[in-house]
Parts: sequence; C-alpha cells; structure tokens
Amino acid sequence: MRSLMDPLDLSVEEIDELISTSNDIIENSAKYSEMCRGKKLATLFFEPSTRTRLSFEAAMYELGGNVLGFSAANSSSAAKGESVADTAKTVSCYADIIAMRHPLEGAPYVASLNSDVPIINAGDGGHNHPTQTLADLLTISREKGRLNNLTVGFCGDLKYGRTVHSLIIALARYAGIKIVLISPDELKLPNYVKIGVLDRQNIPYSECDDLEKAIPELDILYMTRIQGERFADKDEYERLKDFYILTPDKLTYAKDNLSIMHPLPRVNEISVAIDNDKRACYFKQVKNGKYIRMALILKLLGMCKSDAPKPQKSEEILIKDKLVCKNPRCITSCEQELEQVFKVTDLDAGICRCIYCEKKSEKLYSEINL
Ligand code: NCD
Repeated sequence: MRSLMDPLDLSVEEIDELISTSNDIIENSAKYSEMCRGKKLATLFFEPSTRTRLSFEAAMYELGGNVLGFSAANSSSAAKGESVADTAKTVSCYADIIAMRHPLEGAPYVASLNSDVPIINAGDGGHNHPTQTLADLLTISREKGRLNNLTVGFCGDLKYGRTVHSLIIALARYAGIKIVLISPDELKLPNYVKIGVLDRQNIPYSECDDLEKAIPELDILYMTRIQGERFADKDEYERLKDFYILTPDKLTYAKDNLSIMHPLPRVNEISVAIDNDKRACYFKQVKNGKYIRMALILKLLGMCKSDAPKPQKSEEILIKDKLVCKNPRCITSCEQELEQVFKVTDLDAGICRCIYCEKKSEKLYSEINL
C-alpha cells in the first residue's frame, strides 16, 4: 500500500505514467467511468479548500466511486480533541482511500502511519502539496510539450507557499530547469528547499524582488497568494499583501509563449484583465487537477497497470526521543504524545530533520549523545 506525502514519493517515470493516464482520461473519459464502482474516497479537510477537495470528489465520482468526509475541523471529532492518528484509524475502516488537508505540517504523514488505506497529502501547513504539483506538471506538459529545459519564475509568498515548495522539489529532477525566485525579503524560499534541493542538486537559480525585471526571461510565471493565515504577525501581512499585482502592462516585455500559472485562490495578485490573455493557464490548471487526481486514485488503488519503477529513496537513520522539533507549525507541537523522531540521510551532511515537518534540528548527528 502506498501513500503520497510529497512529490518525491513518485518516481519521474511514475509521474510520466500519471500524465499519460490523465491525457487518456481527457481523450477517452467513458473508458474510466466505472473503474472505481464500489470504492469510497474520504476527504478529511481540517482547513478550507475549494479546488482540491471538490476536484478529489469530482474525480472519484467520474470514476464511478463514492465520496464521504468533512470540510472543516470543527465538524469532525478533532473539535473534541481526537488525534490525527485516531481519526485516520477510524476513517480507514470506512474508506478505500483518504485525502487529507491539515494546517499542521506532517499531519497527513501521521495519518499514513496509522491507516490501512492509502493517504494522500492534500496540503499540510506551509510544507507540501503534492497533488497541486501533479496538476501543475500536467499543465506544463500540456502547454509546453515538455517538463525539461524551462525557466520557471515563482513569485509572491515563497516562504509559506506549499505549492511552490512541492513544485520546485519536483522540477529539480528534470534537466535544464532554471528557477527564478521573486519575493520580498521576508517571504523568501525556506532553506530546506533552497539549500536542500536547489544547491544540493546544482540547479541554477536567482533571487530578486522585482517582477518586471525578471519577466522577460521566463517560460513560466507561477504567481502565488500571500498566505495571510500563516503569518504570526498580522501587520507584516498587511504590509506585504499587495506586494505583487500582475497587470497587463507588466506583461509588455514577457515572452509571447509565457505560461502564467497560479494554484488559486487568487486574491488580487493577478488582475482579472489577464484572464482572457492567451498566456493565462490558471483555469486550465484547475481542470487538469481533476484529471490527474483521477489518475492518482487509480494508481494508489492499484487499478491501472504500471511498469514504472518506484522512487529510489536514500538510506535513512532514525533518531528517536533524543531531539525535540521546535517548529510551532509541526504536528508534534500540538499532539504531544507523538514520538519525536528525526532522520538523517546520507545526502544531508549530518543534518537531522524532523520526520513529520522536515525542519532541521539545531544539533548535527555528530553532536547527539546516542
Ligand atoms: C493552494 C493551497 O491550498 O496551498 N491552493 C490549492 O490547493 N489550489 C494555494 C493557496 O491557498 O494559496
């Protein structure tokens, strides 16, 4: 049984397969309409969502299956103090597959450790959002005809934007990718992605805060919303919330075949005047999200043949009860009975990372008294 927590849980070959299954679903939808007859998807959303939850539900209905779940933490037993582990154990008695969104980083991972059925991370705090990444990759592949040799600009809240983190992690595996990081100083990409992924894999990247200057070289511009709900300091949010607004005049020097993407929801970072520009792809992303979630459900339920190899994960050493995660947005900060576990991989230069949220500990592996 497999779950999906981050994009690296799928190999490049498996992603290629998901993309071709999605393309086939788009062409031949009738072929798929009964494939999940008798199967149930549970959507456990502890945080607001329109696209992700409804596209999962639409995906399961279009496969002939059924859907159950909740769309707010306060309508579940979480409001009575139930742990994520107990919720997962319970729901896996009712459903064949579960999609979970949670404000705390690592919560879907905890669910996956306690479930008998596959868990899909539908967004965990500011950490990961792998199914948005799949929607983004399908969109890029359909728009550009390739996933390599692209200059991709990410603009806005690169600190808390989980879709940005997951998409960069996924794109770093393709050849010829250049990344342009466009954000105010306060909202720069976290080091676990910048150093841990871009530096380590020698991916060329640059950082700036000027969208207009960056636009001319881009093949893809990935705009994001400033994630107000994740700011500890609301004044800082007020100060930064209108930092970037993409208007038609800013596109004057953009490439003619630029693809403008956005995971949505948009607040005001893309003017509606751009919606009819042939370069706007964000509503295509929404559609593609449903198709690739159909392909993913089929894959995780083992309902389509796959020749693709699984990803090769590097060796990990687990460190139990020696370190404490200091990330206030980690699931361990709220569910204190969870075992504190850190991992060290052979690629990570002795850095210990929380297995739930991946934030690094202040201590290196060599500094722990084992
Ligand atoms: C994104 C998310 O939830 O991270 N939305 C989505 O799932 N398409 C982006 C956002 O909320 O800004």
